[in-house]
Amino acid sequence: TDLSHIRNFSIIAHIDHGKSTLADRLIQRTGGLTDREMSAQVLDNMDIEKERGITIKAQTVRLDYTAKNGETYELNLMDTPGHVDFAYEVSRSLAACEGALLVVDAAQGVEAQTLANVYQSIEHDHEIVPVLNKIDLPAAEPEKVRAEIEEVIGLDASEAVLASAKSGIGIDDILEAIVNKIPAPKGDRNAPLEAMLVDSWYDPYLGVVILVRVVNGVIKKGQAVKFMIGGTEHLIDRVGCMRPKIEALPELAAGEIGFITAQIKEIAQTRVGDTITTVKNGATKPLPGFKEVQPVVFCGLFPVDANDFEKLRESISKLRLNDASFSFEMETSAALGFGFRCGFLGLLHLEIIQERLSREYDLDLITTAPSVVYEMHMKDGSVLHLHNPADMPDPNYIEMIEEPWIEAVIYCPDEYLGSILKLCQDRRGIQKNLTYVGGRAQVTYELPLNEVVFDFYDRLKSISRGYASFDYHQIGTREGDLVKMSILVNNEPVDALSMIVHRSAAEARGRHMCERLKDLIPRHLFKIPIQAAIGGKVIARETIAAMRKDVTAKCYGGDITRKKKLLEKQKEGKKRMREYGSVQIPQEAFIAALRMG
Ligand code: GTP
Repeated sequence: TDLSHIRNFSIIAHIDHGKSTLADRLIQRTGGLTDREMSAQVLDNMDIEKERGITIKAQTVRLDYTAKNGETYELNLMDTPGHVDFAYEVSRSLAACEGALLVVDAAQGVEAQTLANVYQSIEHDHEIVPVLNKIDLPAAEPEKVRAEIEEVIGLDASEAVLASAKSGIGIDDILEAIVNKIPAPKGDRNAPLEAMLVDSWYDPYLGVVILVRVVNGVIKKGQAVKFMIGGTEHLIDRVGCMRPKIEALPELAAGEIGFITAQIKEIAQTRVGDTITTVKNGATKPLPGFKEVQPVVFCGLFPVDANDFEKLRESISKLRLNDASFSFEMETSAALGFGFRCGFLGLLHLEIIQERLSREYDLDLITTAPSVVYEMHMKDGSVLHLHNPADMPDPNYIEMIEEPWIEAVIYCPDEYLGSILKLCQDRRGIQKNLTYVGGRAQVTYELPLNEVVFDFYDRLKSISRGYASFDYHQIGTREGDLVKMSILVNNEPVDALSMIVHRSAAEARGRHMCERLKDLIPRHLFKIPIQAAIGGKVIARETIAAMRKDVTAKCYGGDITRKKKLLEKQKEGKKRMREYGSVQIPQEAFIAALRMG
């Protein structure tokens, strides 16, 4: 296809505004699939994505569209991940396109994620086509939302397309707008090959499949190519596109998007943002924009049943085949046994992996409190990156500690603003901006990431009854007065419960954990102290009173079946008791303490 007949675009939208439904409509309208094949949403091809309604992996489809002017166009629709944790993947997908459809729910209006994505798209010099979706809903207010797009984003929305992805209204108008408004790609097919690696995934039959945007030159079967940043060389054995079914093609030329395979076994060799060129007469320097992605949130994953450890190891290794962005290494905990310390791109990424392990691999898991990566500046001049409180060095050797910060944009109905501001303030937030748009508040805060990984989303959702939307990006590290807080049971520290916290929050968090453990740990014949401590200093304390014999007698006396049950339960529990001092504590107590998050 000549360049003037190619259009590369993505769809940007807030979660649930109808991105997947619209993509499916476009595929259907241009004849990519039969009605029966349409029955399931196509682009979100993982079960979890379907259930949670989140697009995890970028996928792309090629559509042939014959426009009203009689010409046939090759439209490449790039599906981008819908969540901030995957911001870098999103940025590479956007870099592969010349334009974007901005889908806004005409009943909901502009949301935090709409904003974040649209600004990124503008940064990539995209031509943006606003689409007001769900106009079939009685609650739709397209004129109001049109004004909002102009006021908040500063985009001309006078020609926004009115659409309903669900009932099929406006689909042709959208296709025409893509052809007429989004510019054709630029590129030179006679120049040395430069193809950007946009995404990759593991396919059991094809091996690693790589999605590329060819910037210059031509990529074809049989070519010897090298990955300029990864430093490896491969032989291309397949070139094609997805419609969305796989179709082999002789080549992909400058301006085109499609996939290649090259008998690559490990996804870790394919770095998003890398540049693929030919081994002979190739490009001399990689395309701009490559970034190494690093896990930012860490936690321990332990099997509830110690016998599941091997199964957990296998399952994690399998998941890692398809997701090079999470990391894992073995960890042992006195309280929880054998497990893994895992690193993730963010909280949602953590949740997705955790959920896939429990669902697809049928594992019952316990997660320790998520931790961010701290930079420990030591007195001897060295810098340590700490992501496990257990590895915290002696504070006497630490000069200062830096922690990651984020800038967060929260969008919410006015009535919840007060409690949201309080939440951000309580989490050491610094307010940067506060504006109102159509009865809703948009507030920008700088926050330490470690305050956000600790149940921030949940709190935000519950105080706003689900109406607040949230988006963030990292803004570097700052010095913080951070300490390691240990939890001691009968004067012995419980490793899985220690955490790094800001000094000002330590007492409240320590007290909370002590109270919780007090209810979870069964009584013994003697008093058991539960303490939270920083270094040698106790900052919170609870005591489990000694058990009185007559209490049990009263409780269980007479009812023989109940007594039996209790005995059986105790027997079972014994298997997984952990000893602290002379105290036997069922593992469930720690698990429950962690589960209450
Ligand atoms: P993520 O994949 O989570 O980002 O969501 P999405 O933006 O892809 O939204 P999706 O297409 O899954 O649609 C969300 C919900 O809105 C679904 O229940 C759709 O059926 C519904 N929906 C999408 N488009 C329309 C529309 O035009 N009208 C109405 N009434 N509902 C729609």
